[in-house]
Amino acid sequence: MTQDELKALVGRAAIEYVTPGRVIGVGTGSTVNHFIDALAAMPVPVAGAVSSSVASTERLRARGIRVLEAGEVERLPVYVDGADEIDSRGYMIKGGGAALTREKIVADLAERFVCIADASKAVDVLGRYPLPVEVIEMALPQVVRRFAAIGGTASARAGVRTDNGHPILDVRGLVITDPPALEAEINQWPGVVTVGIFARHRAQVCLLGTAEGVRTLRYSAG
Ligand code: A5P
Repeated sequence: MTQDELKALVGRAAIEYVTPGRVIGVGTGSTVNHFIDALAAMPVPVAGAVSSSVASTERLRARGIRVLEAGEVERLPVYVDGADEIDSRGYMIKGGGAALTREKIVADLAERFVCIADASKAVDVLGRYPLPVEVIEMALPQVVRRFAAIGGTASARAGVRTDNGHPILDVRGLVITDPPALEAEINQWPGVVTVGIFARHRAQVCLLGTAEGVRTLRYSAG
């Protein structure tokens, strides 16, 4: 199977975690695009979706799914999204599509994060994929220096602004052995809007697309 076929496989499999008639959280990316297509094909549809990006909003609406603002809901039963890397504890790197801030906001509303990913995203230690960090422009040089001090090489993603109008840094060279600690540390740096480590908002379940089919990984608390 191609990587895109694996993404389609897990996109369809995630429907099992969706309750018809409820509002759910929807992430961003090529894997989620398959999930949105599968959502639109449900015999009893969802009541609507809170979307994590302009791109997902457009796709949801094009397929007849109502999109709600995050402020219109207090809780979501589930948030379904992809990842750039996921480790054996459900900690992730996200933001390859520059949607990390809204993704974290919607994930925060959800009782359960279901990650959908092809097998290439599963890693032992996070960090081979460049870590995305959304930053207020004024703070870019400071934040770049802070990453250098911990062994990371940060560069601004050329020509990219987030849906919130900010630049994105991609940080190479980090070996993230303690994702919760590094996420908490970077969150303290002035000018950082969102770091693409999803540790506090890690996945509870991952549907991993493999040549043998969908592997369901569940992560225990703690
Ligand atoms: C978007 O900003 C990201 O967090 C995506 O969820 C991640 O990049 C996965 O994307 P794909 O599903 O396209 O691989």
